[in-house]
Amino acid sequence: MKYEAYKSRLTTIADIGYSIAMLGWDQETYMPEKGAGFRAQQIATLSGIVHEKFTDKEFGKLLKKLDDSPKKLSEKQRRNVTQTLKDYKRQKKYTREFVELLSKTTSECFQSWQKARHENSFKQYAPHLTKMIALKRKEADILGYKKHPYDALLDQYEPGARVADLDVLFKDVRSQLVGFVKKIAAAKQNEDKFMYLHYPKDKQWNFGIELLEQMHYDFKAGRQDISAHPFTTSFSSKDVRVTTRIAEDNLKSMIWSCIHEGGHGLYEQGLPESEYGLPSGEAISLGIHESQSRLWENMVGRGLPYWKANYKKLQKYYPGNLNKVTVEQFYKAVNIVTPSLIRTEADELTYHFHILIRYEIEKALMEGKLEVKDLPEYWNAKYKEYLGIKVPSDAKGVLQDIHWSHGSLGYFPTYSLGSFYAAQFYATAKKEIKGLEDKIESGNMLPLLEWLREKIHRHGKYYSAEELCKKVTGEKLNFNHFMNYAKDKYSTLYNIKTL
Ligand code: CO
Repeated sequence: MKYEAYKSRLTTIADIGYSIAMLGWDQETYMPEKGAGFRAQQIATLSGIVHEKFTDKEFGKLLKKLDDSPKKLSEKQRRNVTQTLKDYKRQKKYTREFVELLSKTTSECFQSWQKARHENSFKQYAPHLTKMIALKRKEADILGYKKHPYDALLDQYEPGARVADLDVLFKDVRSQLVGFVKKIAAAKQNEDKFMYLHYPKDKQWNFGIELLEQMHYDFKAGRQDISAHPFTTSFSSKDVRVTTRIAEDNLKSMIWSCIHEGGHGLYEQGLPESEYGLPSGEAISLGIHESQSRLWENMVGRGLPYWKANYKKLQKYYPGNLNKVTVEQFYKAVNIVTPSLIRTEADELTYHFHILIRYEIEKALMEGKLEVKDLPEYWNAKYKEYLGIKVPSDAKGVLQDIHWSHGSLGYFPTYSLGSFYAAQFYATAKKEIKGLEDKIESGNMLPLLEWLREKIHRHGKYYSAEELCKKVTGEKLNFNHFMNYAKDKYSTLYNIKTL
């Protein structure tokens, strides 16, 4: 009975939460400009109701009672209650004053960032960001941590992730990936000029839909629309929306954002319908979510078998641009590695240097070892050190990402974690699914999707990221899998000898 009451409360909260998500989706896709003011108010009102319902004292008592008599619950029920109680205790730590101050600081900081980026002026942004960092340090104290204040922030996006583990992981990135990328830079470079010819919009759109259908993204439980920044959101596992963007002078932009969001979408569509509103019906963490998008985007969607399956279709859309380009040439163009300034445009290897730099900066800011006013100089020095490039302006440097202005510190590492989990999952999938890449080459993505459904999607949050990784692959996250994937693929692409 008590469990039913718990479930019913979470269902109500999910109903409101998903309605907020729907308003957010509309805001990014179809909402007319003038709607912004009241929309923000509507979202804030509903968010307040969710917060009240979740942190209500009676609900807290119910959770404690359930948690105190674990024998009356099944294993899954017990895990759900433990998870919700953890979230409840965390939410209760915030005072109303702190939440309001954080929300006010965030909107000021965000507006200041937009203007500063536009005007290429870090100086005007610095006082706002300084306030934000001070609040984040306070937040870490409020939430509590054992070893490092950054752990408290990480835990919000990647439960269980700790500086102690990430330091080891990023040390591997530094020691192994930096050298390998240098070898690639010294090798004969591949050609991708044809990616930047004129590619009319409508055909790109149709091709993108074909790719999503081939992945078995369920259009009866979802749809694709256009937005400035591609994203995935869901209102239940039966209504999962993806968005994409199309640039007519850059074929790369749409294709891989479409596959990426498709991967996120498949995870959401694969979460168990019966667990609506419960932790067992939710994604584990941002890192695991990102592993699903990157596995499809990179391991599958930047692979030769995938393009053997799809290149002829693409040529039919754009015969003038592509008929003289072979599938092998196309594959090489898809996988060009070159150090660049902008994180979101980086290739799948140098991408992790962008994250490494942000990770080191966030940690130093939280430790108080780095001050906001010194950020541009620090940033530029790191880009020189890890990527060997000179940053021409703060707009293209330290001001490029939205995250800090939103107060999202601890978020960036989940992008790298996602790629590393993806490589490890994919290595296991190749072992367990006989002839996986032959199947992909024939355009049959179902065996891979079914494997992901069985091993990952259907469990929701039942396992932690670490437990899931061990269960699926037999070991905890191990950077070697990503490095092996990278060496295998790029040694061939760039004709490099590796030992
Ligand atoms: Co993503």
